[in-house]
Amino acid sequence: MKIAIDGPAGAGKSTIARTLAARLAFLYIDTGAMYRALALKAVQAALNPNDQQQLLDLALDTHIYFQPDSQQQKVICDGVDVTEAIRSPQVSSVVAQVAAHPAVREQMVRMQRDMARSNSVVMDGRDIGECVLPDADFKFYVTASLEERTRRRIKELQDKGYQVNEEDIKKDIENRDYQDSHREVGALKILPDSIVIDTTDLTVEEAVNRIMSIIQGARK
Ligand code: DC
Repeated sequence: MKIAIDGPAGAGKSTIARTLAARLAFLYIDTGAMYRALALKAVQAALNPNDQQQLLDLALDTHIYFQPDSQQQKVICDGVDVTEAIRSPQVSSVVAQVAAHPAVREQMVRMQRDMARSNSVVMDGRDIGECVLPDADFKFYVTASLEERTRRRIKELQDKGYQVNEEDIKKDIENRDYQDSHREVGALKILPDSIVIDTTDLTVEEAVNRIMSIIQGARK
């Protein structure tokens, strides 16, 4: 079974998708983490985030996999654990630019499809229902208000010890929303077969329960 979860930054997708995958005993594939790992490598190599060819070469030379862990699954890029490093504000601020290049996306989509080929998966991102898994059994669009998404991102960063400015975080989310939904290929959108889950007033547990009951209802 393939479950696609798309939605904007900070809507709670990753936490929901990870919890859902654990409950169903499916593999969880966080495609945002894959774009972030590539963006981290680009930052470390001081590449221009607008240079499609260099970024494509970098993507072709990048191996990413997810390592199950008792707490949270680890993101391993070229043998290095980048789980924490990919969440830095510096990576967040360039990742949408890196992810905007069609050739880079093509390569990432190929890797994501390979990962899903022989497993039941919950995969989250922006273009999963449309591009990566168009035949997914369920396509969820998980969203929340901009204010709530900003609040959650601030808490996440503060919990990791970053000092944050509320206006900067809000602008960063708005920028990414814009870039993610206006790019040429793989733009974030609600599809005709998306099931919209608004998590503004829901806990993770409530959102997962809602999704589980939709899946179980459809299986009966
Ligand atoms: O979900 P996230 O915030 O970790 O995603 C990081 C960035 O990667 C985000 O700006 C959009 C991009 N992304 C994408 O373009 N396509 C995906 N399937 C997943 C993420």
